[in-house]
Amino acid sequence: MSDNLHQLRCFGCGARIAGAEAQPDFRCAECGDLFEVEYPGWNQRKGNDRPNAGALKWLWRERRCSSEVLDHSGVWRFRELLPILENFGNAVTLQEGNTPLYPLLRASKALGIDQLYAKHQGMNPTGSFKDTGMTAALSVAKERGFEWVACASTGNTSAAMAAYAARAGLRCLVLIPEGKIAWGKLAQAMDYGAVTCQLKTDFDGCLSLLTEIVKQAPIYLLNSVNPYRLEGQKTPAFEIAEAFDWNVPDHLIVPGGNLGNSSALGKGFREMHELGLVARMPRISVIQAAGANPLVRSFENSHGSVLEPVEAKTRATAIRIGNPASWRKAVRVIQDTDGWCLDVNEAEIAIAKAELGSEGLGCEPASAVTLAGLKKLRAEGKIGSAETVVLVLTGHTLKDADYTIDFHRGTLLKEEETVGLEAKIDGLRRNARAVEATPSAVLATLKG
Ligand code: F0G
Repeated sequence: MSDNLHQLRCFGCGARIAGAEAQPDFRCAECGDLFEVEYPGWNQRKGNDRPNAGALKWLWRERRCSSEVLDHSGVWRFRELLPILENFGNAVTLQEGNTPLYPLLRASKALGIDQLYAKHQGMNPTGSFKDTGMTAALSVAKERGFEWVACASTGNTSAAMAAYAARAGLRCLVLIPEGKIAWGKLAQAMDYGAVTCQLKTDFDGCLSLLTEIVKQAPIYLLNSVNPYRLEGQKTPAFEIAEAFDWNVPDHLIVPGGNLGNSSALGKGFREMHELGLVARMPRISVIQAAGANPLVRSFENSHGSVLEPVEAKTRATAIRIGNPASWRKAVRVIQDTDGWCLDVNEAEIAIAKAELGSEGLGCEPASAVTLAGLKKLRAEGKIGSAETVVLVLTGHTLKDADYTIDFHRGTLLKEEETVGLEAKIDGLRRNARAVEATPSAVLATLKG
């Protein structure tokens, strides 16, 4: 497993190219589809030729106690499974990954699922799962000598890219849809020194514009169309398997936006399975917001063979995406693992987010679709009480404080969105109270 050899394989036509031959927009010159990183030889490894699974598992765990900076990264700790750099010394790391897997105590009781966990990717250095992908792809940019990197973003990708670019001493360009990203994320891009352009278009518009820009200037594209991003983002799959002592959970539930993350996690589990590190794959289900649900529609209308872009609208701004780039990869993951794809509405997202908050975890709205989706899957009898379920929480609760405050003040949802849910929502709201500055007034708030 020591060969730093990889190639890119087109997901559409199967064409193979060397990593350095990719076009600036990471689209196949033959068919226009996206590439996947492939490691020649891995799938031919059978029997004794396979890596020594026990030795690798020991090594990865051992690295957690090592004094090497690279070993402190939950991505590069697994570097045998992502040999994408010529020299691992070029890795740019903020000690990402190694995120907590929390048991969900209240939700587990409420849903009657004994083994329910949240893999909290919001506990990464910039507060989202994007860090795991960014350490991988930005390291490639650095190794290949780029001076500029860029992304279109609903906020988290730009925050992560800006931080890693700053660490590497690279310049970075961020394109964001004006007025449609959470302030916390915009603040991060500014703080880390990005050149940030707010454009009068949506995320999909920003990404298609950037695709043109990178063809005209030597700028390295760091959206999840870049297949190296997915190599980093597959590593939480390894962490999850490791946390369960290499017995994978029955279900993994992931939010869906541009669909890079579900594709990456599916790749991680598939590769572990192919290499004999785990005995099976979990069922991977993708949950979208009802106002940004092109993949759900694709499954309903064409069993996932055609995707019609939609005009996306949801308060979960991170997943406000109508034309997801990695949809074909996500379809394969869902189909290969017998997972489901469904959507949840704005009230369901807000309630699930407040429930996760009340467990002492919290997350950003886009992450809460996982719990909202789980409730539906459980109600439909698709998930049994004895099965193990992991929700992937993608972003930190502080990313979008406005959303949380609006919910607790009762100004987030419109009346027509909450019909029949008023009591449930009232029970979750914890608005701050204006109280006189006396002990008796404060103590009085504890009653009732
Ligand atoms: N959750 C959060 C918090 C996100 O920021 C995103 C995507 C997703 C879920 C969806 O993941 O796109 O891989 O399906 N955010 C991107 C961004 C698009 O620009 O930060 P996906």
